[in-house]
Amino acid sequence: MSTELAATVKGMMAPGKGILAADESVGTANKRFAALNIPQTEDMRRKYREMLFTAPGFGEYFSGVILYDETIRQSDSHGKPLVKVIEDAGSLPGIKLDTGTFPLALGGPDEKVTEGLDGLAKRVDEYVKMGATFAKWRGVIAIDEGIPTDRCIHANAGALARYAAICQAGGLVPIVEPEVLMDGDHSKHTLETSFAVHERTLGAVFHELARAGVAFEGMVLKPSMVIPGQKSGQTKSAREIAEATLTVLTRWVPAAVGGIAFLSGGQGNEEATLNLNEINLLAKERRAPWTLTFSFGRALQQPAIATWRGDDANVSAAQAELTRRGKLNGLAALGKYAPSMESERDLVGASR
Ligand code: G3H
Repeated sequence: MSTELAATVKGMMAPGKGILAADESVGTANKRFAALNIPQTEDMRRKYREMLFTAPGFGEYFSGVILYDETIRQSDSHGKPLVKVIEDAGSLPGIKLDTGTFPLALGGPDEKVTEGLDGLAKRVDEYVKMGATFAKWRGVIAIDEGIPTDRCIHANAGALARYAAICQAGGLVPIVEPEVLMDGDHSKHTLETSFAVHERTLGAVFHELARAGVAFEGMVLKPSMVIPGQKSGQTKSAREIAEATLTVLTRWVPAAVGGIAFLSGGQGNEEATLNLNEINLLAKERRAPWTLTFSFGRALQQPAIATWRGDDANVSAAQAELTRRGKLNGLAALGKYAPSMESERDLVGASR
């Protein structure tokens, strides 16, 4: 593995920091804007991302940022490229490389496969020239009656492995994201079902990664936590979620993997932080071999966007909401978070 990939992994996994997922496609960003009556224009999306990346202290909490194609090409209101804004804040720019999910041919009902492999090596070259140091590709695995099928798991695992190999060959650290969705409409989507589907998925993903020749040390895994589906009616404690998540990871993820950064997947902001903290507490007890941090999208951005609402007058308050969640999740990545911190308005100086 090259020293560049090793250095990038080390930077991404800096202790007490995590990765901001700000790579919503135009369609997804517009949906979030529409819900808050924010105009859905390219310039508003640019302003929103500029607001996030220029938050005071950004680099203290966020080791990296995942960008969407539109954003990596944009500049701030003074004409400085957003990639440079991120670098100057002490953070690493990354890029989403998949082009979205599409119905899986001959798959089960509603099963999807992620696309974007055509011409990928060329796109990697282009993004490296723009300053990207790492990348992301998300495969989605849904749980419902009769699904996921093995066909769906293997199609997504194969694409993730091809993508990861192309990234490493081109000089980008791949974030490999096999997301087991938690928002299905299935009452049988219990913690136990989620556990079993994570086992099948991670087993297939690492089998394909090995076959593709991917250097585990030069990649980051972005998994979902093992939690009951939102409509299962089951409630589990953070400890039970941590037990299930860490057990599945220690069974199926090689110790050599460069690091693990969880997605939030629709969990509440505080719920995601609490679960991450509990996972880290248990990881210390069990001497897990990896750094376990966050790469949340919604669970980091939600309070910031709800405060900003597209109004310049709200920029400072919205930035404070982002860094607040960054700080709390940074503490959770060290197993030093407590729910009581949620009510402390001024967290500056909390021990890290
Ligand atoms: O691909 C998904 C994002 O990178 C993470 O988003 O934390 O809202 O699930 P999320």
